[in-house]
Amino acid sequence: MKQLIKKWSQMASRDLFFVLNGEYPKLAFSEAISILQATERQYSNFTKFDQLMKISTSMDSVQVIARRSALVHRCCAYFFESDDTFEEIIETAKEMIVDNSLIFGKSFAVRIKRIKNYGAHIDKVELERQLGAVLFNHLEQVNKVMKVNLENPDITFYGIFTENKFFFGLNLWKSETYFQRFDKRRGHKREFFHPGTLEPRLSRVLVNLSRAKDDKLFLDPFSGSGGILIEAGLIGATILGCDVQKTMVKGASVNLKQFNLSGNLICADARQLPFKDDIYAIATDPPYGRSSTTKGIELNKLIQSFLGSATNILQKKRYICICTPTHINLQTIANEIGLKTVELHKMRVHKSLTRIIGVFQN
Ligand SMILES: C[S@@+](CC[C@H](N)C(=O)[O-])C[C@H]1O[C@@H](n2cnc3c(N)ncnc32)[C@H](O)[C@@H]1O
Repeated sequence: MKQLIKKWSQMASRDLFFVLNGEYPKLAFSEAISILQATERQYSNFTKFDQLMKISTSMDSVQVIARRSALVHRCCAYFFESDDTFEEIIETAKEMIVDNSLIFGKSFAVRIKRIKNYGAHIDKVELERQLGAVLFNHLEQVNKVMKVNLENPDITFYGIFTENKFFFGLNLWKSETYFQRFDKRRGHKREFFHPGTLEPRLSRVLVNLSRAKDDKLFLDPFSGSGGILIEAGLIGATILGCDVQKTMVKGASVNLKQFNLSGNLICADARQLPFKDDIYAIATDPPYGRSSTTKGIELNKLIQSFLGSATNILQKKRYICICTPTHINLQTIANEIGLKTVELHKMRVHKSLTRIIGVFQN
């Protein structure tokens, strides 16, 4: 599939749809768009549905989404959308324009899924069967003789119900499960463990929201045990970290090694960042004064001083992604310092903690 995406990547922009994570759907949209921006992919006409985004972009966008994203589950070439009645779906399918340049191999399958309970009134197996017959006819007409193979098809056509609509296309990429992708990097599986660490999937999202890029300098100024740095390193950024506690700096360096990454880690105060003004992206989760210490500094003041220092070393127009608890007025602090708000996301952590994820531009 990788080679094919490479071949398709030569093609001009086309309509795709992405199936997104259901736990953090708003973050998932933003993550996908941030990745396209970070990797300078052109895109247009994106429309949002429940856990699904339709977008016009080049096929090589699928490659960068596949390589970087935490919350995009699947990318498909778009063939059609319709209302969610059986008759309407089949009628629209008969008229659909199949992009024959995407079709290869000797066998195909049709798979139908639902987001939540959308399309519950439709018999999925019968729909798969009838769409299979429509496709079979179409392929025959264009001299592509293909068999249905439900076990191990060369290509899979994929339909999905969302918000009273049905989307249909060709599957281009499907992510591995959470367990396959992130489990081995969870805090307690790293050689140095500290409880204040974010789950790796969320760390990856923060890195993506910061528009970090291959070979460009990425900084986590409250790097703790290195969870965010690991994710930034894995997408190919050049990583820099600092923490006010020596034990954390040592621990993060052990953790980076565990994942065959190297970075520049120093013991320093994020209120006076000792770096030059060429940082390309910053993503960070400062201490909230609960499981991670603020060293007695009031959190508002810590965030304010840190952001002030960060604006001096972050390249102009580049991004910083930062988490704080909701009682901190993150947006006001950032705007007063001159940072422009790009987006804000609220995330409930538990009963007594909701965090804000803020993305700001310098
Ligand atoms: C929530 S933890 C960061 C967790 C990290 N993202 C991870 O995945 O392991 C916050 C870290 O900030 C550090 N810290 C506290 N005050 C600091 C300061 N003024 N400058 C730099 N680091 C500080 C703490 O020592 C702690 O390790």
